Amino acid sequence: MREFGFESTTSEVIAGLDLSGRVALVTGASAGLGVETARTLAGAGATVWLLARDRGKLDAALAQLQAESLPGRLESALLDLADLDQVRVAAAGLLAACPKIDLLINNAGVMACPHAETAQGFEMQLGTNHVGHFLLTGLLLPALKAAAASGRAARVVNLSSAGHRYSAFDFEDPNYRQRTYDKWEAYGQSKTANVLFSVALDARAREAGVRSFAVHPGAISTELGRHMDREDMARITANFPGGKWTFKTVPQGAATSVWAATAPELEGRGGLYLEDCHIATAAAEGSRDGVQSWAVDPVAAERLWQLSEAWVGESFLAGEVHA
Ligand SMILES: NC(=O)c1ccc[n+]([C@@H]2O[C@H](COP(=O)([O-])OP(=O)(O)OC[C@H]3O[C@@H](n4cnc5c(N)ncnc54)[C@H](OP(=O)(O)O)[C@@H]3O)[C@@H](O)[C@H]2O)c1
Repeated sequence: MREFGFESTTSEVIAGLDLSGRVALVTGASAGLGVETARTLAGAGATVWLLARDRGKLDAALAQLQAESLPGRLESALLDLADLDQVRVAAAGLLAACPKIDLLINNAGVMACPHAETAQGFEMQLGTNHVGHFLLTGLLLPALKAAAASGRAARVVNLSSAGHRYSAFDFEDPNYRQRTYDKWEAYGQSKTANVLFSVALDARAREAGVRSFAVHPGAISTELGRHMDREDMARITANFPGGKWTFKTVPQGAATSVWAATAPELEGRGGLYLEDCHIATAAAEGSRDGVQSWAVDPVAAERLWQLSEAWVGESFLAGEVHA
């Protein structure tokens, strides 16, 4: 019986699993958890596509993994989630290269950035973390369904965060047109959107064999904190028990993503929020652990799905909602 927890690492979670013949895509694979997730999946034999927006960083990450002589094939492609036109170009190239996609890890993210907008005018955190991934996933559904048709469910893993507790999704003003921008609230809203997307995607795609999970990786020192100032550090540190950071290493941080993507224990499951390599329970009052009810509300999930379809001007999996 496999049992994992807070300290479990990618190598522990992947031990004994063979991913040869499978194709995995990892967004934000130029830094942090994305590189470690790609390394682990390729280490188990999968063909892994590293996707990132910065050509120099992407090439460096690819070269770093190539130097490790991993058993799986490594490929790379540019993807800028903050521009839906570029997402369409990337998705078309990926579909041409990969008729079947077994695993899609929507890992890329920005956190607490100063107010900015994506190319199409979405608030930057919502646009990057949710809207870009929504369109990418929708466009890649034919390849995900094709992989699932071979008999084993395809999985879509959406990196969320315990930060989803900072905000429910504000359907009245998601892009901060009327309210004052708050960088942490906006991060929380985008990370709530990642969970709601997982719930709605799973409800629509499960009959076709595509399952979806949301993941909180833990607190890991990566480039994600690039916009944090001293005040942010103090505020977040105060939230940790005893006022001390309880960091994970990068291999511990990426372990829940790898578990979500590959765990046999999750077969037949989906629409779930995972943390520390287990299925999270409902968040208790004042706790940093667990999932807030607003993030797994199926009504809000369906509402966000429809709003997201309107935003990207595409309809995916129409009429395939299953309770
Ligand atoms: N680290 C933590 O403590 C923590 C906690 C909770 C949740 N998470 C979540 O885990 C995920 C990975 O975070 P990380 O810690 O590995 O952060 P990271 O080291 O900053 O890596 C983020 C990745 O996303 C990419 N990215 C950012 N904007 C993008 C865009 N517009 N298009 C394409 N790629 C873009 C980055 O590319 P560039 O290098 O070009 O910027 C980078 O490759 C995020 O979704 C984050 O919210 C992390």
